[in-house]
Amino acid sequence: MQGVGAGAGAVGILATPDEVQAQTSVNAMGPAPVSITLNVNGKPMKVNVEPRETLLDTLRNKLDHTGAKRVCDRGNCGACTMIVDNKVQYSCTILAIDAQGRQIQTIESLTANGKTHPIVPSFVNNDAQQCGYCTPGFVMAAKGFLDKNPNPTYEQVKDGLGGNLCRCGTYVGVRKAVLEAAKALRSGASVKGATNA
Ligand code: FES
Ligand code: FES
Repeated sequence: MQGVGAGAGAVGILATPDEVQAQTSVNAMGPAPVSITLNVNGKPMKVNVEPRETLLDTLRNKLDHTGAKRVCDRGNCGACTMIVDNKVQYSCTILAIDAQGRQIQTIESLTANGKTHPIVPSFVNNDAQQCGYCTPGFVMAAKGFLDKNPNPTYEQVKDGLGGNLCRCGTYVGVRKAVLEAAKALRSGASVKGATNA
């Protein structure tokens, strides 16, 4: 009886075909490419995209931002991690058209304008990469984590970077790199190889 009651309630809130058409006709884009502007590392960039394209593919294939990697393309591995509106995100799970009006930060921003964020040399100092495919995603996840957790413990770093996978097993080096960068950011001291972003 409970199931019947729930079903009857659901029918009552369904949109009519006319309402559905009105909603979709307002928001539909494509299927042909559409012109959009993305805010990438503080700069507006115009690009033509098909509505099905992910933010990752648009940046890599059309805007020459190839730092983020396309590994699983399914929101599982974290190789495509970027910071969008101050949140760490998998860019393979965001449509480029949905990224309009949002602040997109890619790994290229960490070495821009002659400055290098401490997290970059910390990865080198702590031997935190092997093949390197996961590394850009880990670096951006670490940057986003440190923005919100300036004084983390080893366990907090381990949990905070739990959304990124490394098939080469560099996890310990990555966590040490994050702790080294955190210390440098707190003290203002530079990590060897960094130029204080
Ligand atoms: S490529 Fe996006 S999560 Fe794996
Ligand atoms: S360094 Fe090879 S997958 Fe992480």
